[in-house]
Amino acid sequence: MTKKAWGGRFQDESISWVEEFNASIHFDKVLIEEDIKGSIAHANMLATKGIIKSEEKELIIKGLGEILADYKDDKIEFRVEREDIHMNVEALLIDKIGPVGGKLHTARSRNDQVATDMHLYVKKIVNEFIDSIKALQETIVELSDKHMGVIMPGYTHLQRAQPILFSHHLLVYFWMLERDKSRFKDSLKRIDLSPLGAGAISGTTFDIDRFQTKEELGFEGIYHNSMDAVSDRDYIVETLSNISLSMVHLSRLSEELIFWTTDEVNFVTLSDSFTTGSSMMPQKKNPDMAELIRGKSGRTSGHLMSMLMLLKGLPLTYNKDMQEDKEGLFDAVKTYSGSLKVMNGMLQTLTLNEAVLKTAVSNDFSNATELADYLVEKGIPFRESHEIVGKLVLSCINKGIYLKDLPFEEYQEATSVIDKDIYDILSPEVVVNRRISYGSTGTEAVKQQLETAKSYLKE
Ligand code: ARG
Repeated sequence: MTKKAWGGRFQDESISWVEEFNASIHFDKVLIEEDIKGSIAHANMLATKGIIKSEEKELIIKGLGEILADYKDDKIEFRVEREDIHMNVEALLIDKIGPVGGKLHTARSRNDQVATDMHLYVKKIVNEFIDSIKALQETIVELSDKHMGVIMPGYTHLQRAQPILFSHHLLVYFWMLERDKSRFKDSLKRIDLSPLGAGAISGTTFDIDRFQTKEELGFEGIYHNSMDAVSDRDYIVETLSNISLSMVHLSRLSEELIFWTTDEVNFVTLSDSFTTGSSMMPQKKNPDMAELIRGKSGRTSGHLMSMLMLLKGLPLTYNKDMQEDKEGLFDAVKTYSGSLKVMNGMLQTLTLNEAVLKTAVSNDFSNATELADYLVEKGIPFRESHEIVGKLVLSCINKGIYLKDLPFEEYQEATSVIDKDIYDILSPEVVVNRRISYGSTGTEAVKQQLETAKSYLKE
């Protein structure tokens, strides 16, 4: 039976399956680098303040460095009975350098230690997310540039609404991701704080210097209340929330790709590398990656809900419930970073079926608003023109033709203000390019939008 670090007041034997239930080492071992970094800063500070001797500090830091090297060489055996990463590392240190290793935990608790590790970890992954979002935005900008001028149907209610530029549609995701990025950046203000030195709950009697460890660990700020420092998990909720919303954005884009690649629509073809086949139907090419991102967005939102529920009734300060903050977060991190990467690859390798798009936009009623606007320009009130065009559309539907095919006499019958130039304004190119308002789908406006998007990427 291993002696527990906290074993002094205990008499009964531990039960291995209870230890198993209690342990977090299976998943919190990913925090080893952060844990060792935090411990080194703590040891340095203890020595500066004369709480441990300089030689003791040297031994401790050397030992910690060796543990990290052993970990990287896959030479460490973590033990369940040592419960978590913090106590595994401490025990390994004592194994290595002897009882002096036990001085490291002076003026520290696992409560401020785990909070420190988590703050360092979340800060690291949020910065990685920001870079990956940027990479995906760059792909969107490249695609929008490459296909500038290609027209596609724009939808509301998933019914053809008005023709738009493909680039205009795609750039919507640039702006969604821009907001995601800015949310992650903003959250760093609340993540980048040092809890170290808060102790278990109330601080410590030792004359420590929390600002020294804050500086060494590169934190921007510090918790001003020791109880807040050990009980705050808002930054984890916030990160899960930011991940969840961004996953919803990726899911919406996935849904569009799935729709665009159906046989019925066929606007886009995904590369073979981002699709799979069927075990039975030889003709199938399924958009599995897009479907998985759509599916995984449910998982990340689930982790956010779990975290909120976890905190809901918790009294101050640390409660073991908080150990449950990790698996969901770690899974959300893996899911989100994987989804960003897969989406990026999928967009980089897709083919736009321009001929299909051209046929699609030439054979629908998405130019009806244009006709109504034309009548308004001729002096007819919009409500009346809406009615006239509605009737013309109905007449076309009955004949199985489109507005461009309707004989001039019928236009004249509907209203004498219509001139022969009506056929010119009905073409999708004209419809799109007559849109001149800021932020609209006209080619000039979209080119301007693209330049603005590029300037955001330079920031
Ligand atoms: N494994 C624990 C966690 O993840 C570390 C903190 C334990 N603290 C304690 N007082 N039991 O939350």
